[in-house]
Amino acid sequence: MTTFKLVATAAMGLEKPVADEVRALGYEPTVENGKVYFEGDETAIARTNLWLRVADRVKIVFGEFRATTFDQLFEGTKALPWEDLLPVDAEFPVAGKSVKSQLGSVRDCQAIVKKAIVERLNGAYGRRGILPETGPLFKLEISMLKDIATLTIDTSGAGLHKRGYRVGQGEAPLKETLAAALVQLTRWTPDRPFHDPFCGSGTLAIEAAMIGQNMAPGYNRDFVSEGWPWMDAKIWEDVRAHAESVADYEVELDITGTDIDHRMIKIAEANAAEAGFAGVIQFKQMQAADFTTDQENGVMASNPPYGERIGEVEEVEEAIRTLGRAMEKFPSWSVYMLSSMENFEDLWGRRATKKRKLFNGFIRTDYYQFWGQRKR
Ligand SMILES: C[S@@+](CC[C@H](N)C(=O)[O-])C[C@H]1O[C@@H](n2cnc3c(N)ncnc32)[C@H](O)[C@@H]1O
Repeated sequence: MTTFKLVATAAMGLEKPVADEVRALGYEPTVENGKVYFEGDETAIARTNLWLRVADRVKIVFGEFRATTFDQLFEGTKALPWEDLLPVDAEFPVAGKSVKSQLGSVRDCQAIVKKAIVERLNGAYGRRGILPETGPLFKLEISMLKDIATLTIDTSGAGLHKRGYRVGQGEAPLKETLAAALVQLTRWTPDRPFHDPFCGSGTLAIEAAMIGQNMAPGYNRDFVSEGWPWMDAKIWEDVRAHAESVADYEVELDITGTDIDHRMIKIAEANAAEAGFAGVIQFKQMQAADFTTDQENGVMASNPPYGERIGEVEEVEEAIRTLGRAMEKFPSWSVYMLSSMENFEDLWGRRATKKRKLFNGFIRTDYYQFWGQRKR
């Protein structure tokens, strides 16, 4: 086993939830420049890919050094032991980015890094010329930030939000990783009811069910590092077998989602079925404000429409206003709403207990939290 420096990348504002998840898996995270760093071996690569719900990707930080000239970038890259990880037939595309650095031409940085690695591998494998690149895929990235070159290797492949259950989507589905963060931020536990009154394609309810059943979010997908020769198949078998053994498919869950649009309900049901939650989550076509319950201490979490289209704002405002009124009847429920509407609290009719700034894609939003008075 080797100890790697690893990084879990996260959307802006979600570094803390990702760091919490990394810690919960038994690794010590440090957060820097919006990234969550930790150390771990091959098993850590498999476990974090399988279990991190909120992170975008897990990458190996293979090298970091200062480079203000292409010579420095070339020599720094060539000095790294690429042959330790890349077999002679590795396919290794190099992506790039550059921020506040003298080496501002991303294309040139990519080309230099590629050339340096080819030279290094040819030397290490005692050969010359072009490498075949017919073997396993290693997605590399050269990132220049304030003249520091960082070379990373992606271990995830498709972003970790791709859990494999999304067979259909509405107009503005939440990314699964953000939805998982939104559920976690509510501190919901499976013994409490969970409801999404603007459920769309059902992402929040499905992520809640996964958390409720302690299902690994990556259980039903594969990862690019599964194709690497030194990532023993046994490691993946073991982490998957462990995930299967700790999942609790029998736990009683009260998770519901409603949406005014019946087509969304069909999509949500299809997604939930794909995730293995047919019959576990109840979806129904309904006006948000018609919500009623005889349960106590529930969690309502949602992202209502933001009313971006002309003519839509008033409708959305009315939906929020009436739901705010309706929820006054259920004071033990806690409500969490992700919205970009700055007048949200006025519409809801109450000041939020807490607000948290988050980005939904590029849209700046607040996660409005109205804590309930829990009944014992
Ligand atoms: C931003 S989308 C939610 C997306 C969802 N989180 C997902 O991941 O797919 C908002 C949803 O609210 C629904 N909606 C709009 N007005 C509503 C109302 N008054 N009552 C219930 N649902 C409503 C829309 O049909 C839409 O599906």
